[in-house]
Amino acid sequence: MKTGTLPLHVAIIMDGNGRWAKSQGLPREEGHRVGVETLKKVTRLCGELGIKYLTVYAFSTENWMRPRREVNFLMDLFQRTFEKEADELIKNRVRALFIGDRVGLSPSLQKIMARLEKDTSHCDGINLNIALNYGSKQEIVEAARAVCLEGKEDFSESDLEEFFYTSDSPPVDLLIRPGGEMRLSNFLLWQIAYAELYFTDVYWPDFAEYDLYKALEDFQSRQRRFGRVGGE
Ligand code: IPE
Ligand code: IPE
Ligand code: MG
Repeated sequence: MKTGTLPLHVAIIMDGNGRWAKSQGLPREEGHRVGVETLKKVTRLCGELGIKYLTVYAFSTENWMRPRREVNFLMDLFQRTFEKEADELIKNRVRALFIGDRVGLSPSLQKIMARLEKDTSHCDGINLNIALNYGSKQEIVEAARAVCLEGKEDFSESDLEEFFYTSDSPPVDLLIRPGGEMRLSNFLLWQIAYAELYFTDVYWPDFAEYDLYKALEDFQSRQRRFGRVGGE
C-alpha cells in the first residue's frame, strides 16, 4: 500500500448486520454484536495505517422505526461497548467523538458517551467519530437555524459548517458502504460532496482487513478532479 495517497478521512456505513445474521441462521442481534467486533478491528487497522479521521454510522435518526426489541438491544449494546472499550481505545490512541442528536438518547447512555469522549480526549492517534442518532438533513437544518439565531442572513458555507457535528473534521475523502446497498441513507450528505464512493456486497460483520485494503487501493486508483480538468 502506498502511504502518501491514503485518505485523510474515511467514512463507513456499517450495513448488513441483519442479513449476515440471517445468512448464518442467527438472530439479527448476533449480527450487531459481531459488527462491533468488525468496528474494533477496522478502527485499529485505520489507526495503524495512519488514517487520521474515521466516521462510522452506528444508528440513524430513521432507525427508531425498527422493532422496539431491536432498538432496545442496540442501545444496550452501545452502552455496554462504550463502557467496556475505553481502555482499549486509549491504548490504541483513539479519540472518540459522538456525532448526532444526543438529547434523543437515554440519560445513562448520554453519560457514558460523555465519559468516553472525556477519557479519550488526550488521544492523539485516529479520531473516531461515531454517528449515533445521526441524520444529515437534521444536522443541516439545525446548523442553518443556529446561524440565523446569530443574526447572519448572508452566511457562507463555512459559517454553516461551523455548526455541524463534524466541525472539527476535514471533508470525507472516501465513503465505504458494505452490505450491497448503493445509497447514502441520510449520512454526511454535505461532508461527502467530493468524496470517492466505494460500495461492496460484503456484509459488515464479514468485512475484513482484505476488504479495507481493497477499498483503499481502489481509492488510490481514482483521479480526483474537484471540478478541474484532469489528466496532467
Ligand atoms: C446496520 O445493519 C446496523 C444498523 C442499522 C444499526 P442492518 O441492521 O441495517 O443490517 P441489514 O441491512 O438489515 O442487513
Ligand atoms: C444505514 O443503514 C444506517 C446505519 C448503518 C446505521 P440502514 O440499514 O438503516 O439503511 P437503509 O434503511 O437500508 O437505507
Ligand atoms: Mg441495513
